[in-house]
Amino acid sequence: MKILVTGGAGFIGSAVVRLAASRGHEIVNCDALTYAACLDNVAEVSGSESYAFEHVDIRDRAALDPVFERHKPDAVMHLAAESHVDRSIDGPSDFIETNITGTFNMLEAARSYWTKAGKPETFRFHHISTDEVYGSLGAEGMFTEETPYDPRSPYSASKAASDHLVNAWHETFGLPVVLTNCSNNYGPFHFPEKLVPVVILNALAGKDIPIYGKGDNIRDWLYVEDHADALLLVLEKGKLGHSYNIGGENERTNLQLVETLLAILDEKRPKAEGSYKDQITFVADRPGHDQRYAIDPTRIREELGWRPSVTVEEGLEKTVQWYLDNETWWRALQDRKGVGERLGTKA
Ligand SMILES: NC(=O)c1ccc[n+]([C@@H]2O[C@H](COP(=O)([O-])OP(=O)(O)OC[C@H]3O[C@@H](n4cnc5c(N)ncnc54)[C@H](O)[C@@H]3O)[C@@H](O)[C@H]2O)c1
Repeated sequence: MKILVTGGAGFIGSAVVRLAASRGHEIVNCDALTYAACLDNVAEVSGSESYAFEHVDIRDRAALDPVFERHKPDAVMHLAAESHVDRSIDGPSDFIETNITGTFNMLEAARSYWTKAGKPETFRFHHISTDEVYGSLGAEGMFTEETPYDPRSPYSASKAASDHLVNAWHETFGLPVVLTNCSNNYGPFHFPEKLVPVVILNALAGKDIPIYGKGDNIRDWLYVEDHADALLLVLEKGKLGHSYNIGGENERTNLQLVETLLAILDEKRPKAEGSYKDQITFVADRPGHDQRYAIDPTRIREELGWRPSVTVEEGLEKTVQWYLDNETWWRALQDRKGVGERLGTKA
């Protein structure tokens, strides 16, 4: 299958590109190369004849039609987005433009291409979204596909809006769509502004390891390569117009996650004295910080037979090892604007 992937130079998009290429799919990677992108993430496939890169900004509607015409994809996997909640607090406008207007542009470009091609039923527009659209849980309960949307940050509100657009393009225009809403990912090539890489890299640098609030916010962690596997399965086997929640059933408080990571580092690269845990520092909480996310993955498990391949402990171990082995990759990204700074405090 020829898959047009947006955001394929980012964290999850590049995992999709690598996995899809390894399974024999042709890839057209469309990315604007924002601060969060890194083409090294797809270096292992970029020399292949079945890979093409298009430097394109999804905010630019006119730029999208020629890409569809040139490559004639069988499917779209739409991952391009502004993705960092803290940045959405300091500067929401990029989130509105890329996540909402950009998704609208992608839907219109896909609809135009699909209509001209005679509306093939086999075409797919797969929209990749987040569990954050459902808002925040208390101590009990889990997000199902029927949970009402209740986004609370500019990031999650922009993703929720994009999900509604995708559903509307299916209901109104018949565009063959599938959607997925996934929990927090971690793994190789995670941009060094997100919690897991911040913890590893600050620990190695001997810096404070910041924990927002009391560290009692709960997330449901999923290894990025398991997410990519679920995404390809939904693309190929998901029911038209359906959404699928994807999660690892690995709820951890932020503090538990950080302590696990630091225990792995203590084993793999012991400090001269003491433990990396001594560097943990509690800092002011993120404004509007959602308390708990938990995914009920029954639908994707029962309809499509998907399960994650690694436990969170195995995935974190692989991740720590990857950062230890790939210093050149992360060092090059640490000079990018905002990396290493506390963001999201302007509310
Ligand atoms: N990271 C997570 O834990 C998580 C969880 C669930 C869902 N998601 C969703 O998965 C998708 C990918 O997330 P990620 O963590 O890989 O993000 P990321 O920030 O690592 O990568 C985003 C990519 O999109 C590109 N991009 C941004 N704006 C663009 C534009 N206007 N035009 C074209 N390309 C643009 C960037 O250059 C980058 O390569 C997003 O839609 C996000 O909402 C992420």
